[in-house]
Amino acid sequence: MPDITHFDLNTICMDFINDPYPMLAALRRESPVHYNSDGSIFLTRYQDCLAVYRSHDMLSDKTEYFGAKFGQCPLFNHHTNSLIFNDPPYHTVVRKLISGAFTPRKLREMEQLIHRIVDQLLDSIAEKDEIDMVADFGMILPTEIISFMLGIPDEYRKKLRSYSISILGALDPVVSEQGMQAGNQAVSEFSNVLNDLINHRRANPDGARQGEVLESLIFGEHEGRVLTQEELIQNCIFILNAGHETTTSLVSNSVGLFLKNPAQHRLLIENPDLITTAVEECLRVESPLQIGNRQARADIDLEDHRIRKGTYIHTSIAGANRDPAAFEAPDTFNITRRRNKHIAFITGIHVCLGATLARMEGRIALSKIFRRFPKIAANGKAARLPLARFRGFTHMPVKLHS
Ligand code: HEM
Repeated sequence: MPDITHFDLNTICMDFINDPYPMLAALRRESPVHYNSDGSIFLTRYQDCLAVYRSHDMLSDKTEYFGAKFGQCPLFNHHTNSLIFNDPPYHTVVRKLISGAFTPRKLREMEQLIHRIVDQLLDSIAEKDEIDMVADFGMILPTEIISFMLGIPDEYRKKLRSYSISILGALDPVVSEQGMQAGNQAVSEFSNVLNDLINHRRANPDGARQGEVLESLIFGEHEGRVLTQEELIQNCIFILNAGHETTTSLVSNSVGLFLKNPAQHRLLIENPDLITTAVEECLRVESPLQIGNRQARADIDLEDHRIRKGTYIHTSIAGANRDPAAFEAPDTFNITRRRNKHIAFITGIHVCLGATLARMEGRIALSKIFRRFPKIAANGKAARLPLARFRGFTHMPVKLHS
């Protein structure tokens, strides 16, 4: 049984990152509102996380926190402009404008695109015996899709993952000097690329390819307001970050779960229609985004605890999604699970804008992988992404035809 006495989110280690679930279960049982050394709290119960996400007294704005963490630099500028770290009214306006990129019509266009990209990717690996599920498939799929969405030319696509990892890595509770530099450089380089792309699309509004949403972001209007160039650039970077690593992780975490659970793998191969509940179960059991943040704007009462105004709150999405009070046999991977009200995409005003797209990518990719390679098997040890907030893999060697 893990000892929760010294658990502190600011000093977590690779043991926790490799397998956070025993510690999260112990915290949920013994210290569900757990205080870290900096006075922030870590919530691991489903109902408590839900209460935080549904509360109107929660702030996402982290200008003060980022100011202390980053100082004035590109990372600070990026995160403080992104809709995710803002509150109404700025959040409402930017969210409305970005929603224009996820209309049913745009999603239908993207669905065709996803089928095409997945087929091409699987064709390109089909002749190989051994591949890395992350490098050869998982990370290419969202890069291609987001590149189409933002109109990013081929020559920049390979860099997108390292941009995304560097920028998101700097959000981890502990960041090295080198990590900080990489994050700042990634924001600067990507901002320059996007600045040129946006200017080009402004000058050529009709030149977009199928699946591109940049023009709706540039020209979209909400109550007479359009996004400024800086807001556009930083929120495009945010779309890359929001949709890239999370989707790579959805694919690799899901493949990892099926490889570890052969009975569920067989069940899906024999019943491909289970793909919808299977993707939901993968999102619950191995949530790509594991920890969220808010700050209390007022005193908030949880079931048995009062959170004081000003407190920084870390919500354990992963802990909530395995809470026995909300899910029967929560540690069991069961692709036929019904009433799966997981919060992998959270809930409330910041609920993931890309959830429908991500689910679509997950369903299409996993269905096609398992249909074409029903004998897919592990080929050595997979390596975890060394981040606490984001759960995924850096490498996952697999044999396609075993
Ligand atoms: C499996 C994949 C994904 C997961 C698990 C995921 C999860 C999340 C979560 C938990 C949030 C809320 C964060 C918070 O406020 O604390 C969020 C927000 C967001 N996500 Fe996703 N996401 C995924 C894929 C995507 C994709 C593919 C896109 C777009 C291309 C996207 C775009 C966004 C946007 C724009 C927000 C900000 C919403 C707001 O602040 O109002 N996400 N996502």
